[in-house]
Amino acid sequence: LFLGLMSGTSFDAIDAAVIALPEGGSPRLLGGLEQPLSDELRQSLEQLRVANVSLDQLAETDTAFGLAFSAAALACLQQLGLSPDSIDAVGSHGQTIWHRPSPTHANTLQIGNPNIIAEQLRRPVIADFRRADMAAGGQGAPLAPAFHQAIFSSTVEDRAVLNLGGIANLSLLPQGMHTEALGFDTGPANGLLDEWAMHCLGTACDLDGQLAGAGLCDGELLQRWLAHPYFQQPAPKSTGREEFTLPRLDPDPRQLSSSQADIAATLMALTVESIVFALLTEAKGGFDCQQLIAMGGGVRNPVLMQQLDEALGRIRLSRAEDHGWDSGLIEAAAFAWLAARRIDGLPGNLASVTGAQGPRLLGAIYPG
Ligand SMILES: Nc1ncnc2c1ncn2[C@@H]1O[C@H](COP(=O)(O)OP(=O)(O)O)[C@@H](O)[C@H]1O
Ligand SMILES: [Mg+2]
Repeated sequence: LFLGLMSGTSFDAIDAAVIALPEGGSPRLLGGLEQPLSDELRQSLEQLRVANVSLDQLAETDTAFGLAFSAAALACLQQLGLSPDSIDAVGSHGQTIWHRPSPTHANTLQIGNPNIIAEQLRRPVIADFRRADMAAGGQGAPLAPAFHQAIFSSTVEDRAVLNLGGIANLSLLPQGMHTEALGFDTGPANGLLDEWAMHCLGTACDLDGQLAGAGLCDGELLQRWLAHPYFQQPAPKSTGREEFTLPRLDPDPRQLSSSQADIAATLMALTVESIVFALLTEAKGGFDCQQLIAMGGGVRNPVLMQQLDEALGRIRLSRAEDHGWDSGLIEAAAFAWLAARRIDGLPGNLASVTGAQGPRLLGAIYPG
C-alpha cells in the first residue's frame, strides 16, 4: 500500500489517498480524503504568491505544511482503519510555491518538510519529484500522465484525461499505447475564476458556477485573452499560477464594461476554449480522441462541465467516477504511485511529456 499527498495550485485542500498495487495488476484506490487548508496556511500561501516574503516566513510555511501533510496522512489512515505500518511508503508532492520551467533558468519549488512526515508516520517518504526531471532539461511537469496511462488507457479507443485544478492539464493516451503518451498544461482551469469569485463575492470559488452561469461570454474579451502566447506554444509545456493570474491576464478587469457575471462567463469560456483548442491541435500521429475523462475539483462545477461537453462535440465527456476513481483523489493517488516507482527503482517521468532528456528516477527518499 502506498499513500499519496498532494496540495494543488488552488490552495483549497490537502488531498490524501491510499492505493493498492497488486503484483502485475492495475492500481486500485482504497480511499482518501480532502483536508481543507486552514485559513492561516492559505493566507501564508497567498502572501508567498503575491509578495516578497522573508526567508523566515518561507521556512515557517515549509514546517507548517510538513505538519499539515502529516495530519492529513494520519486522518486518511484513520478513516480507512489502517495503521501507518501498513503503508510501504508515502509520496508527498508538497505545495508548489513557484514553478517556472523557462529554458534559461528553469526552477520549481515545492514545500512541506518531508522529514516531519517521515518522523510522524515512521514510514519512508518520497518527495521533491519535479526537480530531477527539470535538471534533465524537462518541464518537471506534468507528472500525472504516466499514472493516467496506467489506470485509464484503453485498447479500443484513443482517450484523453483532463485534470481541472487551478490549472488544467491534459494527458493524451493513444489506444493500446502504440505511440507515446503526451501530456501538458493547457492553461487555466478554475484558478482565474476562483480569483474573480473572491473579488466579486468574497468566496473561494464560483460555487456550482452560479456567477458564470448567470453571465454571457464577451466574445471580444475572450479573443483578447485567447491571444495569450501560452496557448499557441507547442507542448511540452507547463504553467502555473505565476503566469495565469488575473492581474497578469488583464491589468484591471474591473475597468471592463462587461458585468461581473459576464466576466465570469468569459473566464469560464477561456478555460473551455483553451482546453478544446489544445486537445485538437496537439493531437498528432493520427490521435483521434473518442473520450475525455475529466477529474479534479472542476468536475463539481456543473456549468463548466456542461460548457465543456458542448464544446467537445462528438468527443464523449466522462468523469473519473465513471471509471471507478474519485475525481478529487487521482492527483494524490498519482504521487502514491510515483513513490512506488521510486522505491522500485523505476523512472517516474515520461520524457515525451516533460521534454526531459530521458526517463529519470524521481524524488528523494526520507527513510523515516
Ligand atoms: N461546487 C463547486 N463549484 C465550483 N467550483 C468548484 C466546486 N468544487 C470545487 N470547485 C473548484 O475546484 C477547485 C479545486 O480543485 P482541485 O482539483 O483541488 O485543484 P488543485 O489541484 O489546483 O488544488 C476549487 O478551487 C474550485 O475552483
Ligand atoms: Mg486541491
